[in-house]
Amino acid sequence: MIKIAPSALACDFSRFGEEILAMENAGADMIHLDVMDGVFVPNISFGAPVIKKLRRVCSMPFDVHLMITDPLRYISDYADAGAGIITFHLESNSDTYETIRLIRSLGLSPGVSIKPKTRVESLLPYLSELDSILVMTVEPGFGGQSFMRDMLPKISKLVHERERLGLSFDIQVDGGIDVSTAKEVCAHGANSLVAGSSLYGTSDYVTAVKQLRENAQSAFIPETD
Ligand code: DX5
Ligand code: ZN
Repeated sequence: MIKIAPSALACDFSRFGEEILAMENAGADMIHLDVMDGVFVPNISFGAPVIKKLRRVCSMPFDVHLMITDPLRYISDYADAGAGIITFHLESNSDTYETIRLIRSLGLSPGVSIKPKTRVESLLPYLSELDSILVMTVEPGFGGQSFMRDMLPKISKLVHERERLGLSFDIQVDGGIDVSTAKEVCAHGANSLVAGSSLYGTSDYVTAVKQLRENAQSAFIPETD
């Protein structure tokens, strides 16, 4: 099944709570919350205190994407704020195993993300410990950028390795995902879609989520050759 994770980075922040509740009511599977520290990426968004307040508003899982330099230092804050999935970057300064294990020990789902320039092979040592891999299909930092088609082979490689190793992690993509690019990533085996501007940029979230899901599902090919 395809998972749809609207990225709140594209919502109207003056109505943050209403905007995430609206996506829950529109049938989204989880809400994607982009945390940026202005150092790891050249932008600053919001942090754990904001997420903690939002937790009261809706019941769908919080998919927290940490684009920060030292995620290990802040994991317990995001756990306390109500995160369900915590994804951090392989390129961060924190020890990858230690960070994954801390997330797991707090009862949450660990995910690791790679930027476009990072080779997918760098993830191989960690696959068995992860619930999801996030393949960035834009340079992290900003919404509304164009999808990078040359990231598609990373998805195929992850599908292949998952099968070879008998694992079941989700393959999530983030950046430039709309009805059209969703078909491409799902045809390669991605099963979890982050979409900011293509969902929050519409006036009818119910239709936008439904169309994204239907197009993604119709193209989805879970097996490798
Ligand atoms: C970018 C963020 C994304 C962003 C996606 O660094 O990680 O989640 O909000 O936005 P769109 O879907 O507009 O490319
Ligand atoms: Zn993101």
